Amino acid sequence: MRHLFATKSLDQIARDSESAGHALKRTLGPVQLTALGIGAIMGAGIFSTIGSAAAGGGTHTGAGPAIIASFVLTAVACGFAALCYAEFAAMVPISGSAYTYAYATLGELVAWIIGWDLILEYAVGNVAVAISWSGYFRELLAGFGVYIPGWLCIDYHTAARAAEQVAALQAQGGDAAGLGIVVTRSAAAFAAAPHLFGIPIVFNLPAFVIVMAITWVLVVGIRESAWVTSVLTVMNVAILVFFCVVGAFYVRPANWVPFAPNGFAGISSAAAIIFFAYIGFDAVSTAAEETRNPQRDMPIGMIASLVICTVIYIAVAMVLTGMLPWRQLGTAEPLATAFSANGITWASGIIAFGAVCATSGVLLVFQLGQPRIFFSMARDGLLPKWAARVHPEYRTPHVTTILTGVLVAVFATFLNINEVVELTNIGTLFAFVLVSAGILILRRTDPSRVRPFRTPFVPWVPLIAIAMCLYLMFHLPLLTWIRFFVWLAAGAAIYLAYGVRHSVLRSRAGSRTGLP
Ligand code: ALA
Repeated sequence: MRHLFATKSLDQIARDSESAGHALKRTLGPVQLTALGIGAIMGAGIFSTIGSAAAGGGTHTGAGPAIIASFVLTAVACGFAALCYAEFAAMVPISGSAYTYAYATLGELVAWIIGWDLILEYAVGNVAVAISWSGYFRELLAGFGVYIPGWLCIDYHTAARAAEQVAALQAQGGDAAGLGIVVTRSAAAFAAAPHLFGIPIVFNLPAFVIVMAITWVLVVGIRESAWVTSVLTVMNVAILVFFCVVGAFYVRPANWVPFAPNGFAGISSAAAIIFFAYIGFDAVSTAAEETRNPQRDMPIGMIASLVICTVIYIAVAMVLTGMLPWRQLGTAEPLATAFSANGITWASGIIAFGAVCATSGVLLVFQLGQPRIFFSMARDGLLPKWAARVHPEYRTPHVTTILTGVLVAVFATFLNINEVVELTNIGTLFAFVLVSAGILILRRTDPSRVRPFRTPFVPWVPLIAIAMCLYLMFHLPLLTWIRFFVWLAAGAAIYLAYGVRHSVLRSRAGSRTGLP
């Protein structure tokens, strides 16, 4: 039983990462890490989720123009959590992120739970981003007169549900247009689908293809992927600045009144959704073993990328809510909608291009992060050892990279983006809670350890991070909580069936003490 709570010493963690055959190549510096962070942060959240967070829909009420306040609230929560992540990332500059930190502080069982939970952030998050990429890519091609059939760009469930809604309305003599463009388009895709053995063929092909393409880039090597990320990141920032500058000419202050139509409840509910837009700064920590000077550069990369994104997000939110009445923002591509509704259609194409670049960047960084977490877990014996192999020529964790790529690509073909976003948020917020708690614990259990970066005002900063993340979690729907608990229970079962018996830490302890 006590093995479940055995911690792996930080010195042992460092030694394991250096062990021959498992070592990764160190090529990244502070600028590349900040670019990596921004690349991971800016994506589907700012280009898609912002619309439904402002206008409301599904299970949550909209914040209205006060989405600006939701962005501030979430930025503060993430800022406090980032200060905790930074202390760990500088102290344990090993790939594996929160999983590794937990192993050093809270014990193997909790480490496994966090590692399992991080799959929600990285792999499940990437399913959402791949779906968003697909939608914008289709828009972009349509701008060039190339049309991908709708049934090849949507999940079966969403299309079938939309077809049912339209059919039900038409049976009552209603006009399907009243259901909105998203529903009517989805229903049209379902109606146009070819059939195989009487079953309509509907799936998201571009989402599958982009994930597999990115997987190939990552197997070939981190240097190339860091370069691609940097180029994409520059494009993202340029296009969001373009949105703010051009959009500012179309702002009508009357659109900001009333500022918070659904009060603080609306702001909080939107904050729990828009949190997705901030996920990613912690992905910097998963590249620790490929960083030249991780003690100095990890905190810089995380905090700088978060600050830059926060400033840009708040500017985008102000301009967006000033350009259109808030109720009209609930489309899948709200930034493009704001332009086209103001008659500047040429700018919508630029936004579609920006969204494709941004979501590609997120896909790249998350596909980089997830395999490194699997890699660390396999190195510790909690997953099969073959998963921790490093490619002899490219020096990348190719087994876990390909495994992650195939899983994400397959799930992206048939899942719905909104449900995936909520599940990602709850999992990530939970990881932030555990990391912040880990800082408090390690300050007590190992106060003299060298900390190249120290979280300021401990215990207050970690405590506020925990409180704010829990607050956001409680604003997510019950169904998301149920899915989250089912996921954690499945993880616990796998750990008890496999990890407990194969743990390297456990076998080392056993050989020292003579215990089995
Ligand atoms: N923050 C990332 C995005 O918005 C996950 O796409």
